[in-house]
Amino acid sequence: MFYISILLQLLESAAAASFSVSYQPRSICAFERSSVDFSCRFDYSSYHRDITTKWFKPEAHQKQDGTQVGISVYHSKAAEIHQLYKNRTAYANQDNNCSLRLHNVSKSDIGKYFFRIETNSYYEKYTGPGGIHLNVAVLPFRVTVKTQTANEHIYEGDSVTLTCSTENCTPKQQPFVWFKNQRLIPEATDNVLPIDSVSHSDFGNYSCALKNSGTTSADEILLDVRYRPKNVEIVVLPSAKIQEESSLTLICMSNANPAVTNYTWFLIREANVSYIGSDREFSIRSASQSDEGQYFCIAENDMGSSNSTVIALKVEVPRSRNFSLIAVAVLLFLMAVLLAVFGVIIRRKQFTSKKQSTEQTPAVTVTEEIYENLRKSSEFEENHTTCVTYADLRLPPSTSDRPRSNSQEDNIVIYSLLSCED
Ligand SMILES: *[C@@H]1O[C@H](CO)[C@@H](O)[C@H](O)[C@H]1NC(C)=O
Ligand SMILES: *[C@@H]1O[C@H](CO)[C@@H](O)[C@H](O)[C@H]1NC(C)=O
Ligand SMILES: *[C@@H]1O[C@H](CO)[C@@H](O)[C@H](O)[C@H]1NC(C)=O
Ligand SMILES: *[C@@H]1O[C@H](CO)[C@@H](O)[C@H](O)[C@H]1NC(C)=O
Ligand SMILES: *[C@@H]1O[C@H](CO)[C@@H](O)[C@H](O)[C@H]1NC(C)=O
Ligand SMILES: *[C@@H]1O[C@H](CO)[C@@H](O)[C@H](O)[C@H]1NC(C)=O
Ligand SMILES: *[C@@H]1O[C@H](CO)[C@@H](O)[C@H](O)[C@H]1NC(C)=O
Repeated sequence: MFYISILLQLLESAAAASFSVSYQPRSICAFERSSVDFSCRFDYSSYHRDITTKWFKPEAHQKQDGTQVGISVYHSKAAEIHQLYKNRTAYANQDNNCSLRLHNVSKSDIGKYFFRIETNSYYEKYTGPGGIHLNVAVLPFRVTVKTQTANEHIYEGDSVTLTCSTENCTPKQQPFVWFKNQRLIPEATDNVLPIDSVSHSDFGNYSCALKNSGTTSADEILLDVRYRPKNVEIVVLPSAKIQEESSLTLICMSNANPAVTNYTWFLIREANVSYIGSDREFSIRSASQSDEGQYFCIAENDMGSSNSTVIALKVEVPRSRNFSLIAVAVLLFLMAVLLAVFGVIIRRKQFTSKKQSTEQTPAVTVTEEIYENLRKSSEFEENHTTCVTYADLRLPPSTSDRPRSNSQEDNIVIYSLLSCED
C-alpha cells in the first residue's frame, strides 16, 4: 500500500512537471464596467489530446490559493460557464495562448482568477499557480488630502499632497485632470498633486477625473488652509466723496480663514489714536467736520490679526452753501457801498444848502425818512433842538489782499452818529 502511494505521488509530480502556466500581470485594477485582459500562456505535454481548459474563480468561502476549484468563469464546454460570466468573456483559444478578456467588470468580480488544464487522466489536472488578482475601482473619484504635519488643521507653509483615488484601488491610467473651484489646473496631470508649501491662495474646492473619461469626483474636497486676515481694507459706502450731513458706512473688508471674529476701529486725529468701534461696519449718521481724520480697522481671527490700510476721511461742505454765503456777503457789501455813496451825496447837499441860505431850515426833510431813527435819538438830547443830524458811514480798510466779500467780518460797516456841537 505504502509503495503504491509513493508511486502515485511520483506519477502525479511527473505529470505536473509537464504543465506550465504563466500570468501577466499578476494583479489588475480595473474600473467598474471596463474590460480586463488576463494575459496567460501555457504549455503541456501529454499523451492525451483531449484537454479541457478553464478559468475559475474560487468562491468567497473557498481557499483563494487555487487549491479549490471555484466557479467557471470560462470553460471550453460553454455550458459549464457560470451564469455570472456567460457572454462576458472572450477566450484567446490559440496555441499556448490562454488569455481571457472579461467584459463589464463589477465589484462582485473582485477576487482571484486561475487558469486550469485538465486531461482525461485523473492525474493530469493542473492549475497555474498564483493566479491573477482582480480588483475593481468603484467610481467616483475621491480626493484625499495628506499633510506631513500631525496637526488637525492645515496652515500656510505646510506640505500637502492631494490624491485622486477610487474605492478599493486606482487604475494606473493617465492622464488625470484636476480642478480647483471648477477651473482646470493645467499643469496637474498625475493622480497625485503635491503642494510643497501651501498658501492661502491654495484654499479652495478640489476635484479630479480621468482625462477624456467624463468621470469626475462626486464631491469636491475643500483644502481648508488657515491663515490670519489678509488684504484688510476699508470700503466707504456709498462713496469716498463725503458731503456734510450725509450718512456713510465704513466696512472693514478682509480675507481670512477661519472667519474674522473681532473687528476694532481706530481714529487717528492729530497723532492721537482712539478706539471708536468693534463691529465689522462703522457708521456715521450725519457727517460733519468733526468726523474728519484717518481711520483704520484691525481684523482678528484664531490665527492672528492684521491692520487695514489707513484711509483719510474728508468732509466736503456743500458747494451750494458756500455759494449762498458768498452771495449774502456780496449783497451786504453792495448795500454798504450804496449807503456810503448816499451818505456822501447828502452831506454835499447839506453843505451847499447851508452856504446858500443859512437861515433856512436845514435840509432835514431830505434825510428825514432815512435818518428818522437817528434824529429821534438826537431829539432825546433836549438842549440840541436845532441841530443837523446825519450819519457818517465808514468802511474798515481792507487789511489784506483777500477779497473783502470772503468774510462777513470784513464787511462790518461802522455807523457813527454825529451830533451838533451845540
Ligand atoms: C449570450 O449571447 C448569445 C448570442 O450572442 C445570446 O443568444 C444569449 O442570450 C446571451 N446570453 C446571455 C445570458 O446574455
Ligand atoms: C493571446 O490572445 C489575445 C486575444 O486574442 C491576444 O490579444 C494576444 O495578443 C495573444 N497573445 C499572444 C502572445 O499571442
Ligand atoms: C454591466 O453590468 C451591470 C451589472 O453589473 C449591468 O447592469 C449592465 O447592464 C451591464 N452592461 C452591459 C453593457 O452589459
Ligand atoms: C466649496 O464648496 C462648498 C460646498 O459646495 C461651497 O459651499 C463653498 O462655497 C465652496 N468654496 C469655494 C471657495 O468655492
Ligand atoms: C475677540 O473676541 C473674543 C470673543 O468675543 C474675546 O474673548 C477676545 O477678547 C476678543 N479679542 C480682542 C483682541 O478684542
Ligand atoms: C491727545 O490725547 C491727549 C491725552 O488723552 C490729550 O491730552 C490731547 O488733548 C489730545 N490731543 C488732541 C489733538 O486731541
Ligand atoms: C496695528 O495697529 C495697532 C493699534 O494701533 C498697533 O499697535 C500696531 O502696531 C499696528 N500694527 C501694524 C503692523 O501696523
